[in-house]
Amino acid sequence: MFVISIYEIFSKIYILKNITIKGWVRSRRDSKKGLSFLSIYDGSTINIIQVVVKNSLNNYNTEILKLTIGCSVQIEGKLQYSHGKLQKYEILAKNITILGWIENPALYPMSAKKHTVEYIRNFCHLRSRTNLFGSITRIRNVIYHSLHNFLYKKNYFWISTPIITSINTEGAGSMFKVSMLDSNNIKEKKFFNKNVFLTVSGQLTLEAYACSLSNVYSFGPTFRAENSNTKRHLSEFWMLEVETAFSNLDNISKLSETLLKYTVDKVLNKCGADLVFLQKNIDSNIFCRLNSFLSIPFVRINYTDVINVLLKKSYEIKENISWGNDLSIQQERYLVEKYFKAPIIIQNYPKSLKAFYMRINSDNQTVSAIDVLLPNVGEIIGGSEREERLCVLTQRIHELGLNEKDYIWYQDLRKYGTVPHAGFGLGFERLIMYITGLKNIREAIPFPRTVKHADF
Ligand code: 4AD
Ligand code: MG
Repeated sequence: MFVISIYEIFSKIYILKNITIKGWVRSRRDSKKGLSFLSIYDGSTINIIQVVVKNSLNNYNTEILKLTIGCSVQIEGKLQYSHGKLQKYEILAKNITILGWIENPALYPMSAKKHTVEYIRNFCHLRSRTNLFGSITRIRNVIYHSLHNFLYKKNYFWISTPIITSINTEGAGSMFKVSMLDSNNIKEKKFFNKNVFLTVSGQLTLEAYACSLSNVYSFGPTFRAENSNTKRHLSEFWMLEVETAFSNLDNISKLSETLLKYTVDKVLNKCGADLVFLQKNIDSNIFCRLNSFLSIPFVRINYTDVINVLLKKSYEIKENISWGNDLSIQQERYLVEKYFKAPIIIQNYPKSLKAFYMRINSDNQTVSAIDVLLPNVGEIIGGSEREERLCVLTQRIHELGLNEKDYIWYQDLRKYGTVPHAGFGLGFERLIMYITGLKNIREAIPFPRTVKHADF
């Protein structure tokens, strides 16, 4: 038995060979001539393979004519050029084994009907069976590996930063507490010697490695207990964090732009068939949008200049705009989508808006920070130069009322051979949203966790 995937059927030459495939039925069509046509998918590609079944097969009447969408099957047969115009190949079935039936097809939530993403979201354990979620999952996988590959090629070392931590990297914002339960899972017991939480960012511990291995990154799940019920916030999301010693804001701005462009280029090269599907169903402009992303240079602009732009245009974005306020998602999207019509990197934010570890500029009002904004999603990357001067860092910790004891180890990095360094964090699901054109971040992760929702 020569078992191959549908992806292999379309990428290598197996024509006229006897092959076996294993997958699920997408559809069944019966012709009057005693033939049935099955469309089979196996998740390896968006492509389905047509299987021609003659009524001479021993289980034709008893089983084949009862197949419905979702049934799992093993098919042995000959791969041949298709007689039909709609597909290149087909399999002439010699033997079909039904591996799993659909109990009561009328109740199967993933029926052949066209469903909305909101409906499908109620069935996260089944939604990867749809073409849409198959495509998103394969693209998510390519994006993940491209990010790793880009950094690997640039000699960055991958570091595992802790998920359970006692520090709030951002210095503020709510965290999820981690506790141990007794053997009946009822009473909380002390396990560690202090309160611990799920990490909001691995940055501070990553800095420890940047201050010895120079070029490092981490890539893992991060957790935010924010009450942000929006289309671009998750309570659990994946973040790529990059940290570089002996570098500055200009270096990380360039690095983030090349990293994003490299990844989009890889998706365009490797995910053609899935992008064609998204073009038909999610974003009719997807190829043009992604190709122009590769050629348009990111706009760099200071926060102060952004505020001036918004003040001049305030009739278009009717919100309170003043120096010192954070930008709203509407303002961010206005800047990228309407005003600059390009991705933008906003630099030098007021220090009051940003975390304690960001390097203070000589004006003593702003910090050397960047936010990268893209159309559709707004902020995708946040980064900064890190405050490497021990006395300034200590002063910031005091000013913001943080508990200095928590940061003694972090201050050590400045006490012993301090170096200028900088880094950024990239929201993985926001990048998936941007590339695929998804409107809601809940579709960019297999099992989304948001306020009041943590099924499974
Ligand atoms: O801007 P943030 O909060 O930056 C940090 O955590 C830094 N410590 C990163 C660093 O410099 N190493 O988060 C970084 C990115 C954001 O730009 C955004 O894309 C994403 O993470 N992000 C979220 N994505 C989904 N849901 C949320 N609730 C998110 N919060 C931030
Ligand atoms: Mg941010």
